[in-house]
Amino acid sequence: MRLKIAVLAGDGIGPEVTHEATKILRAVAELGGHDFTFTEALIGGVAITASGSPLPTATLDAALDSDAVLLGAVGDNKFNALTPDKRPEAGLLQIRQALGGFANLRPSLAFQALSASSPLRPEVTQNVDILFVRELLGGLYFGQPRWWNHETNEAINTMRYTKAEVVRVARIAFELASKRRKKVTSVDKANVLEVSQLWRAAVSEVAQDYPDVTLEHQLVDSMAMHLMNIPRNFDVVLTENLFGDILSDEAGVITGSLGMLPSATIGGAVNLYEPVHGSAPDIAGTGKANPLGAILTAAMVLRHSAHLEADARAIEQAVHSVLDAGYRTPDIAQAAAKGNTQTITTREMGKLVHQALVESIDRRQSMHAV
Ligand code: NAD
Ligand code: IPM
Ligand code: MN
Repeated sequence: MRLKIAVLAGDGIGPEVTHEATKILRAVAELGGHDFTFTEALIGGVAITASGSPLPTATLDAALDSDAVLLGAVGDNKFNALTPDKRPEAGLLQIRQALGGFANLRPSLAFQALSASSPLRPEVTQNVDILFVRELLGGLYFGQPRWWNHETNEAINTMRYTKAEVVRVARIAFELASKRRKKVTSVDKANVLEVSQLWRAAVSEVAQDYPDVTLEHQLVDSMAMHLMNIPRNFDVVLTENLFGDILSDEAGVITGSLGMLPSATIGGAVNLYEPVHGSAPDIAGTGKANPLGAILTAAMVLRHSAHLEADARAIEQAVHSVLDAGYRTPDIAQAAAKGNTQTITTREMGKLVHQALVESIDRRQSMHAV
């Protein structure tokens, strides 16, 4: 199997967690005899500093020339005074648009070993397995007009969707739900917004083609509450761009940390893989970053861009086993959970997952050899 991966580590903890994720991918390639190549390029604040642009042409070219893009995180407080089009985050929005993926898959799982890391009671989080399908190329992020008039002190952003944009992401949500627990919860604000009424109508129309999948509609405000009260009620959660951004971070509470959440963006020319979290300037450079979101993102690369499902699962199993053994980065080492746990660094966590993965692939290969 050949796979050309563009690695855009970005800012803050981006390089720290991406280093561990690529190490895992290299191990899979080595043990399985695959040919994975890694091309590093700059994005975000480090790219602005080096070249004046948050998405240099060389980076975009490398991304478009790859089979998968693995991104760390962008964002640096030193650019906070810049307008949105000049900030590190603009580089991320530009690359998303250029790659064309419109369906951002954000799984949110409750890990048994981490039940004490969540402020929610274990009986609330137990067995939670939610897949957010977040529309990624529309809504307020890209709608026109957008401006800030400093003379009149007025600013505007536009939440815009076409029916076609809703239908294509809804189809992905229904397809995925039909292979899971067969339920789609579509999130909107149809009691107030025309764009949400269009969203609801388009999603309902797509649902007709999936009679074995149940569709429910939830308003975004009460959805934010239900997600904490009864997260087990949800299977696939389909949202527009900004609602999905907010709710998927909220869902980090179920797992115990934002640092645990992976994502994959599909549907475009090249799939884009990024953990859900940001550059975490508050802990950058301290060795405290949790690399598991990035490592689980590497598993999604294998699942969605390489059809190496067994290896994707092996990575996920390795993460489970390291957590089961009690190893924690500080974000998941909550006081209540201390008992038999040991707090470790980003590097140490990466190394332990690597070891567990190598052992499990070795076991699989020797079983096949018998
Ligand atoms: P953040 O996700 O960077 O951090 C939120 C909180 O979670 C912080 O306390 C942080 O320390 C913690 N956290 C996040 N990831 C962690 C990890 N892997 N391990 C341990 N703790 C972790 O969000 P923020 O602070 O609101 O934003 C910081 C910057 O990141 C901003 O510039 C923002 O625009 C950017 N951002 C980028 C992305 C991306 O590149 N995909 C996503 C979100 C935010
Ligand atoms: C995310 C981030 C981005 C988003 C920002 C950094 C542009 O918060 O990936 O969740 O809002 O999509
Ligand atoms: Mn976000």
